[in-house]
Amino acid sequence: MPQPLAVADESDAFAVAVRAGLSQPRKIIPARFFYDHAGSELFEAITALPEYYPTRTEIGILTAHAAAIAAAIGPGRAVVEFGSGSSLKTPLLLRAIAPAAYVPVDISAAFLQAAAAALAADFPGLPVLPVAADFTGGFRLPAAVAALPRLGFFPGSTLGNMAPAGAVDLLRHFAAVLGDGAAMVIGLDLAPGPAKSVAMLEAAYDDAAGVTAAFNRNLLHRINRELGGTVRLDDFAHRALWNADLGRIEMHLVAVRDTRFEAAGMAFALRAGETIHTENSYKWTLAEARLLARASGWMPDAVWSDADGRFALHLWRRDDGGLQP
Ligand code: TRP
Repeated sequence: MPQPLAVADESDAFAVAVRAGLSQPRKIIPARFFYDHAGSELFEAITALPEYYPTRTEIGILTAHAAAIAAAIGPGRAVVEFGSGSSLKTPLLLRAIAPAAYVPVDISAAFLQAAAAALAADFPGLPVLPVAADFTGGFRLPAAVAALPRLGFFPGSTLGNMAPAGAVDLLRHFAAVLGDGAAMVIGLDLAPGPAKSVAMLEAAYDDAAGVTAAFNRNLLHRINRELGGTVRLDDFAHRALWNADLGRIEMHLVAVRDTRFEAAGMAFALRAGETIHTENSYKWTLAEARLLARASGWMPDAVWSDADGRFALHLWRRDDGGLQP
């Protein structure tokens, strides 16, 4: 994830990020600017698309393997969810494992309250203790869960939107926050292989109805609307491609002809074929995911997948850091 820039507020942040990101030879806009109101709604629509298999596949894994997941984790844990957006996945996990408390952590206080209230209604008797915080930064768990063993929950292949070095930092941070004896359930989309074609992977990020294209292009609308931009929208097309060397899907806005525009008080030019890189979605083979865990303070314990080998749900336990030879 690109480093957040130190600025006064979010509209300044967008201007600063656009000025910096479009001034370099390889142009980028940080992915977090996708999620204004329109972008968040488009993202919800993406998760229901026929081509976008990750959401329904992960839900299918949680459903099909609920008993095995429960047996591996055991009851009585405080479930700490990083980002509390997964309205369907969370109840499936909570119903399976009989937790002692649920702690959703989300940067959006409004969203968090709504999600927490809905869950509390569905699980009478379960303490629901929301924490309004950026889960990538420092935050404290509620005192009420201090004596409980913790289970981190990080579904949706959200970790995949970070480059490996940033992913390792975040997972080490989770290990520190969750503490001794913690476990973690994390959903990671699988890399293409014999059972999973590159074509189906790319289609998940370039659907026939054009919803993912609209989601990507929403950044250009935001530039025009919020930064006094003069982007000619027809000069850009959505592109999603599998980068096999780096093990990731990349999303770009590609200039279909030479184009110039102004935004945030600066002038920019792109040659035909030049792109603005807007998102990465790393895919992890099972072996890579095990190494990722080991590199970041976790021990791989179990993994559950769908019959088609598209998506993996990993159970990791915190590495106790004992003596090594
Ligand atoms: N983490 C999910 C994924 O990479 C969801 C997601 C994040 C996404 N950014 C996206 C999906 C952009 C489509 C386009 O699949």
